[in-house]
Amino acid sequence: MKISVLKELAPGERRVAATPETVKKFIALGASVAVEAGAGVEASVADAEYAAAGATVGDRASTVQGAGIILGVQAPDAATLAGAAPGALVAAGFNPFGERARVDGYAGAGLEALAMEFMPRITRAQSMDILSSQSNLSGYKAVLDAASEYGKAFPMMMTAAGTVSAARVFVMGVGVAGLQAIATARRLGAQVSATDVRSATKEQIESLGAKAIFVEDVKGIEGEGAGGYATEMSDEYKAAQAALVSSHIAKQDIVITTALIPGRPAPRLITDAQIASMKPGSVLVDLAVEQGGNVEGAKAGEVVTIHGVKIVGHRNVPSRLATDASALFSRNLYNFLSAFWDKEKNAPVLDEEIGNAIRLTQGGKVVNERLLAN
Ligand code: NAI
Repeated sequence: MKISVLKELAPGERRVAATPETVKKFIALGASVAVEAGAGVEASVADAEYAAAGATVGDRASTVQGAGIILGVQAPDAATLAGAAPGALVAAGFNPFGERARVDGYAGAGLEALAMEFMPRITRAQSMDILSSQSNLSGYKAVLDAASEYGKAFPMMMTAAGTVSAARVFVMGVGVAGLQAIATARRLGAQVSATDVRSATKEQIESLGAKAIFVEDVKGIEGEGAGGYATEMSDEYKAAQAALVSSHIAKQDIVITTALIPGRPAPRLITDAQIASMKPGSVLVDLAVEQGGNVEGAKAGEVVTIHGVKIVGHRNVPSRLATDASALFSRNLYNFLSAFWDKEKNAPVLDEEIGNAIRLTQGGKVVNERLLAN
């Protein structure tokens, strides 16, 4: 079985889908690995390191030629994979709802697209979950990005020249990214508070030493839908949340928003009027900016200033920590493929639960239920 690792084609994508560590492990399973020259450069992995791990390093055409498995961070268009073995598996991030035409292209090319972001949230798949591994780094980086845009310090400092007060940081959306943002802001010495629609997060917020800001006494506050994800909230809830959050936001120096609802645009959490209520020099970081944004006026790929408040909307935040993000992403792919590796066939044989969840295309057709229902 030949496994190919290609240089990412998406603009600004610095990550790579395999590291020398995972190359070695795939070879130990019985596979051969081909890496496109330069694939790891932006994640600080030189071609020579892949070669030393046992991979062949070559141009794109020779890397794809005859591959039975292609690994990617962001799946390329199917047209760029000509020469792969018929029915080859492509395990990568596909953004299936956002890039439906690309998925159709995979069906047309007879490739089997495996969308790693559709990995079910079950215990045995935790180590295969790219959303978790990458969101964790995003949450960390969001706090550092906020700190570098903020014209003041995070920790309280008592100096001979006077006291600097601690920054107040508010995290909205306490999933994987939000929890890491809370922990990171606390480590930097900020006074941290956080909110979410899932009531289960209250305890998690408090266990990290932050203050939980929650809507009480409104119907449907559980907020938890399938697979531990959030659901769309009632209008009554949204109004109560807006009122609670408004008075709180006005007192914050930094707000980090991470709220997502799978398959839908990101919920709008902060309005222009709420931005106007903040002190000039405050910083908002919108981690949901590429899914439509939690913050009114946030722009993907830009830092904009509105009412004297900086609104940070970096795209592809995990790629800003390309080395660690690649190492974790690569292990997710290895953990996934190795868990299903059939030694005799020298290929992975997926089970129904995980296979049906992540398989987008097979036998020339789009087969994924979530995608067909959308
Ligand atoms: P996500 O990235 O889909 O959303 C981020 C957060 O935003 C979530 O906590 C969500 O509840 C919150 N949110 C949505 N709408 C909101 C609103 N209007 N106001 C405030 N907050 C809002 O979520 P993520 O990070 O993927 O995690 C969701 C859950 O899944 C967590 O409980 C996590 O622990 C769990 N999980 C389980 C895994 C497993 O068992 N394999 C793997 C990864 C996560």
